[in-house]
Amino acid sequence: MASFLQIADDEKGYDLDLFCVPRHYENDLDKVIIPHGLIMDRTERLARDIIQDMGGHHIVALCVLKGGYKFFADLLDYIKALNQNSDKSVPLTVDFIRVKSYCNDKSTNCVKVIGGDELSNLSGKNVLIVEDIVETGRTMQTLLSLLNECNPKMVKVVSLLVKRTPRSSGYRPDYIGFEVPDAFLVGYALDYNEYFRDLSHICILNDQAKEKYKV
Ligand code: IMP
Ligand code: MG
Repeated sequence: MASFLQIADDEKGYDLDLFCVPRHYENDLDKVIIPHGLIMDRTERLARDIIQDMGGHHIVALCVLKGGYKFFADLLDYIKALNQNSDKSVPLTVDFIRVKSYCNDKSTNCVKVIGGDELSNLSGKNVLIVEDIVETGRTMQTLLSLLNECNPKMVKVVSLLVKRTPRSSGYRPDYIGFEVPDAFLVGYALDYNEYFRDLSHICILNDQAKEKYKV
């Protein structure tokens, strides 16, 4: 089973005043729960684990937009650094897919692919799906079944976050950065109705902000 850094349910996090948070979000957040530096350190290690397992073959990294873009970019930078600084290196290409399943802070039952590259390009390839967060697991399970129809050679999934929630289908990614409490998280490209992607740290959204940015 994939190892991960566990953020406990009673984790107090860090006071916003201790970090740099954009002024326009100061009143919307409760706590910093994962500072940007810790995200980067954990991502560096995930890159090493992934290359150890998948290395040797060409990897197609598939970014799940939009929430995955920061993690995708940083993870690939660490993989590139490994490629540049060791005897063994693995060719890496990128593909993008856009899915939508969320409205306000609720996962809807309908997971939609709303754009991106053709999945049929991935036939016969070693694919690494890069996702921001797994909650119920429905998005990833839908994506995996779509992808499997295209007969890739191998598929692995890395998710920066996995939520501990009774709504989980039981699906677990192959690589996990952090396991997090059942709260709505924003920052580091995770959004609430498109807001908060421009925040570096992963934070807990407060109830007032859920109202303020509701659609
Ligand atoms: P799932 O299909 O329930 O596993 O949800 C996965 C998708 O919902 C993720 O790719 C996110 O885009 C979104 N999501 C789930 N939980 C959160 C959260 O706490 N903050 C922001 N987005 C979330
Ligand atoms: Mg996502």
